Amino acid sequence: MCGIVGYIGNNKPIEPLIEGLKKLEYRGYDSSGIAIKEKNNIQIIKSTGRIVELEEKIKNEKLLNSNLGIAHTRWATHGEANEINAHPHKVGKVTIVHNGIIENARDLKNKLVNDNIVFRSETDTEVAAAVINSFYNGDPVHAITRAIKELKGSFAFGIIFEDQDKLYAVRKDSPLIVGVGKKENYIASDIAAIIKYTDKYMLLNDNEVVELTSDNINVYKDEELIEKKIETSQLTIEDANKGSYKHFMLKEIMEEPALLQRTLNKYLSNPSDLFDVSKYEKIHIVACGSALYAGMVGKSLLEEKANVKCYAECASEYRYKKVIYDRKTLVILVSQSGETADTIAAMRKAHEEGMDTLAIVNVTTSTIAREAKKAIFIEAGPEIAVATTKAYLLQVAMFSLIALTTAKVKGLEKKYDEIVEEGKNISTYLNKILDDKDIFKGVGEELKDSMDAFFIGRGVDYAICEEGSLKLKEVSYTHSDAYQAGELKHGTISLIEKDMPVFAVITDDNIKDKTESNVIEVESRAAKIYTITNDDSLKNHHFKYVIDKVSDYFQPILAVPPLQLIGYYTADVRGLDIDKPRNLAKSVTVE
Ligand code: AGP
Repeated sequence: MCGIVGYIGNNKPIEPLIEGLKKLEYRGYDSSGIAIKEKNNIQIIKSTGRIVELEEKIKNEKLLNSNLGIAHTRWATHGEANEINAHPHKVGKVTIVHNGIIENARDLKNKLVNDNIVFRSETDTEVAAAVINSFYNGDPVHAITRAIKELKGSFAFGIIFEDQDKLYAVRKDSPLIVGVGKKENYIASDIAAIIKYTDKYMLLNDNEVVELTSDNINVYKDEELIEKKIETSQLTIEDANKGSYKHFMLKEIMEEPALLQRTLNKYLSNPSDLFDVSKYEKIHIVACGSALYAGMVGKSLLEEKANVKCYAECASEYRYKKVIYDRKTLVILVSQSGETADTIAAMRKAHEEGMDTLAIVNVTTSTIAREAKKAIFIEAGPEIAVATTKAYLLQVAMFSLIALTTAKVKGLEKKYDEIVEEGKNISTYLNKILDDKDIFKGVGEELKDSMDAFFIGRGVDYAICEEGSLKLKEVSYTHSDAYQAGELKHGTISLIEKDMPVFAVITDDNIKDKTESNVIEVESRAAKIYTITNDDSLKNHHFKYVIDKVSDYFQPILAVPPLQLIGYYTADVRGLDIDKPRNLAKSVTVE
């Protein structure tokens, strides 16, 4: 899951390319590179590490006098993160940047080696360049169209041909948009990369080849010209900047009350049938990472409140396992980016089986948003920090509404109007928590040297623990695990050592005493207990933070932000790169 950007126009390409890469760095940041063209000369400059290192390198180069270029920031899949494997790659007359994975690269490479093609890198991308070059006889559109028939897997390519003063691109499964400017045009993995220059764009569908000059855009399908609509992005330049905040993660947490209230009010004031799933007997909630954990909260709410049988499934397993469907099954896909490869595959599997699908998604132009049979947009705005916060919270809120609406339709919720009123004021309680952020800063400072931690809870609290644990893991690199509280004594409790941080989430009235007894079990082995609860009567073992008590539908929404802030401040006190944690990327477009 890399980021690609391309420019052709009357200006020099370096500035828009570097600007674009910086905005795409959340997609991968272990190495990067650019290629610019003047007449039949291609200049390629690559670097390991962050874009700033590439920028430094470019400053010391004598640059071609160019108006055309492509660029790439990498999350290594094939071959380690070094300059040779960094993109762009040039084979013959073809120079390309790539986001995705060519699954049959090894077979294609073996064939091409027999044709005496020499490969410098370990990448699948260089193989793709060689395949395109093997079909090139002066007609770029034909060469690309022919080549993609040979390639298996996912790709978004930005392509330059040595003897063509045009920019080319094509995609399949990986995201790619075309930016429409005045006397200049762009390609990019995401509109955020070019929003500084234009808010006008075209969405490319799979296997559509685009050919750009500074004042013209042609799109081909099977070498036939096709019409494309120009869309206008809602994104603003401010959205793509962190403003006065130290990190995008903190900015996005602080945006939660306003965004949550706006989206909740929109759907609460004019309920849509999208939220009524009463006609289904079974629901498969399928997603990855934090989106799956939001789905696990959804499962608990739909079962407990709306009496619907639910399964929360990890998409990378779901796509390959035997799934027993029946006519009354709904498959709900949850995804912030809408481009997560495993979740896309799970959606297409459900479609192949004729199942209804409902997507809960943030990026409205994404593959999942466009392909799912129905979609609920969470409207979180762009989420730049790799660790999701506001999008996760809005995904949970959508499940709160689905459970509430369905419980009402099934006559299971007598206090519907009261709960709707509560929903319209939920941001009040959330603001109180964010106003207390210095309390969580204190916890972060306490955890500075603790490299292990546990989270325990039961029922919906366990699902919340999974997200709290993931936040701490992915931004602070603490080895953290979440457990069903009753499960700990069956082995894992042997890991509890003196002062080991154990977070207990206790909001579910029905089982809070059980969780409390598990807390006492670990405390008696000298663990340091941090309790997040809605019950002030619970003992303060070491640290206790009491959130407001609200209905079961909205309670999870108040229990998670304290854990998001603790994760953030623990990483901040360690001086880590919070928005771009090592080894991660924002949207996982490869499996
Ligand atoms: C969460 O902070 C991570 N970025 C990751 O687990 C993420 O939730 C997962 O990759 C799913 O992404 P999606 O919501 O864009 O599909």
